[in-house]
Amino acid sequence: MASLAYTSTGSPRRLPFVGHGLAMREDPLRCVLALSRDHGGIAPVHIGPVRGVMIADPELIGEVLVRQQDRYTRKTIVYEAMARFLGRGILTTEGPDWRTHRRIVQPGFHKKRLASFADAIVDITRGDLASWQGEVDVSALMMRLTLRVVSEVMLGTRTEADAEAIGRAIDVGQRYTEALIVGGFELPKFVPTRRRRELARAIETLDRVAYTIIDERRRSGERGDDVTSMLLDARYEDGSELPRQRIRDELITLMVAGHETTSNALSWTLMRLSQHPDVARRLRAEVDEVLGERAPTFEDLPALRYTRWVLDEAMRLHPPATTTGRIALEPHTLGGHALDEGDLVLISFYALHRNPTVWDNPEGFDPDRWEALSEPGALPRFAFAPFGAGTRKCVGEAFAYLEAILILAMIAQRFELQLTSRPVVPSPQITLGMAEGLWMSARPR
Ligand code: HEM
Repeated sequence: MASLAYTSTGSPRRLPFVGHGLAMREDPLRCVLALSRDHGGIAPVHIGPVRGVMIADPELIGEVLVRQQDRYTRKTIVYEAMARFLGRGILTTEGPDWRTHRRIVQPGFHKKRLASFADAIVDITRGDLASWQGEVDVSALMMRLTLRVVSEVMLGTRTEADAEAIGRAIDVGQRYTEALIVGGFELPKFVPTRRRRELARAIETLDRVAYTIIDERRRSGERGDDVTSMLLDARYEDGSELPRQRIRDELITLMVAGHETTSNALSWTLMRLSQHPDVARRLRAEVDEVLGERAPTFEDLPALRYTRWVLDEAMRLHPPATTTGRIALEPHTLGGHALDEGDLVLISFYALHRNPTVWDNPEGFDPDRWEALSEPGALPRFAFAPFGAGTRKCVGEAFAYLEAILILAMIAQRFELQLTSRPVVPSPQITLGMAEGLWMSARPR
């Protein structure tokens, strides 16, 4: 249907002044799909004052994120807004500063550590699932669960009050960033808007919780398996410790980057499973065969192959990070399009994962496709990139798979979930959430 934002054939209109801004605001997912349908893997975009291209082609994504990455900066409006409450951790820094700290953070996700995180994840999930009963908002429950997990693994805290305070503060920060993205600009910093005051309070909360934990550990010398302990023991090349604020920034970054993304991956997977009872049955059969009634462990992951395919197929159709962006640092040509310094390259993982030149039956939910695609070379490089690519690829990828597969397996052991009649409304903000929640009836098996 034609509207001010879209033509009768479904193309986003490029309106005076706002360009595709209205279409993007009205329905960003529809907008990126229509742009890639109309233009292929690279489409000119114009969103308010911002100009550039949107890309959804594996080859071009390889150019921007990997081969030519030095031509771009990540200082987009989104990342800069996130830096307001995250501070400067590895998500929001670049160059030598980023490299130094990525090297320090990365070992937090090495195999040995993941194995120890697995036990914590299973423990927390077991407790959480015990309260599921009747009709539940699965997306809210996933949010709570992944927040508990990330609080434990990053900070070593199972304090309910801390996790809740952090959850609320993160939420305020995310909503602040989203409002900026939609508004496209920020009022001068001295203007005390309601959102700014809320943000200031949220930052105070994050500081309080993180600094209390950091300072107590420093004082007592106590260490655990968590990432805080690792960062406290880390040293720069000259032997000095990480400043207190840097530890706070890296921890909050990991918690924010790791919590909503994983939660949304799980919610969309559970939504798809309820639409495909045959897939849900096969998943339960795999879990029964591999685990029976015992709790899963890190070592079970390779055997939970179908579970992984289901998750990958859900992340293909609903990538938790639907887009990321880069800004051109110099004039150059990308896929035949001239870019100026300061132009935006919008990388749409959502359109990439539904690109019909790459995927057979792109809109279909078919976990079995991953059997063939798991063979080396079966899928073009960068065709499936829910975690990004290149040196800035997600540091938490292995952890996210571990967490999501363990949680999915434990849910499958215990429940059959069915969608109720309430609608599922995608909410593409910083991550791909669900505006009205995900209401399901949980029937114990
Ligand atoms: C399903 C879950 C997840 C998805 C889909 C996801 C997605 C992504 C993507 C696409 C990027 C790259 C962004 C860009 O290039 O602009 C990224 C980066 C990052 N992710 Fe994740 N992520 C997930 C889970 C996690 C977890 C569990 C953590 C940590 C506990 C985490 C921490 C980070 C960090 C710190 C970065 C920045 C890395 C850097 O620039 O060096 N993510 N993530």
